[in-house]
Amino acid sequence: MNGRASQTDSARAEASARQNWDAGRYARDARFVSDLGIPVMELLGPVSGLRILDLGCGDGALTERLAARGADVVAVDASESQVSAAAARGLDARVGDARRLEFENEFDAVFSNAALHWISPPEAVVEGVARALGPGGRFVGEFGGEGNVETVRRALISALNARGHDGAAADPWFFPSAARYRAMLRAGGFAVESIGLVPRPTPIPGDLGDWIETLAGSFLAVAPETRRDAVISDVRDAVRDSLQRPDGGWTVDYVRLRFAARLA
Ligand SMILES: C[S@@+](CC[C@H](N)C(=O)[O-])C[C@H]1O[C@@H](n2cnc3c(N)ncnc32)[C@H](O)[C@@H]1O
Repeated sequence: MNGRASQTDSARAEASARQNWDAGRYARDARFVSDLGIPVMELLGPVSGLRILDLGCGDGALTERLAARGADVVAVDASESQVSAAAARGLDARVGDARRLEFENEFDAVFSNAALHWISPPEAVVEGVARALGPGGRFVGEFGGEGNVETVRRALISALNARGHDGAAADPWFFPSAARYRAMLRAGGFAVESIGLVPRPTPIPGDLGDWIETLAGSFLAVAPETRRDAVISDVRDAVRDSLQRPDGGWTVDYVRLRFAARLA
């Protein structure tokens, strides 16, 4: 029982709210996330002169690239720390919740990398994106798809359960199948140009513990601080045979959902 079926949108949203997005830690341990988002940007095609919203922009590494290619970009993220880092790059970066976007008919495209699986309910995001776009506007992005980081996710849930916590309730992630997200996009008024799962085993920099603290903090947050190292250690032991490389580094079983859609 992995708990996925029983986790509701509101439980996922509560768990996601426990995640701390510290820009310094993100830049140190998670730079690979934006680096691996560069090919997703290519799905936008030429962006010069386009007005683009980067949703869940993090510290603005990809937003900056879009701006360098001549786009007029607005960057939105819920984390003040990330938005400060993005603003420090000279970007138009704003604190905002992707579930409550207030833009209307303003953008040629909305782009998002590695953020949408953190945001529930997903329908609220699709609705706000559709409203933010002008006629024929595009929604292009990538996030965690069905089966993403499954080995670590299961180990985190088991480790928390074993220590008396409700591991499944700590799970913040929405990892849909392509069919499910395609249906959501269509229901939101989009014609889907392309969508598909992309298995992407990913060598991570540094130790698995840093990855967990930076990118799976919601799980740890339900345990007292004094017990978090033990949880990390349990997870390391549980996934070692599947994910640790002979050189001692770790390769995490990422599966991305990449899509491009156009407002119909
Ligand atoms: C893994 S980071 C990805 C950041 C960036 N797109 C990149 O590629 O580096 C996920 C981001 O989603 C943001 N996020 C989470 N929930 C959000 C919400 N409800 N609205 C807007 N941003 C949110 C987080 O603050 C975090 O910066």
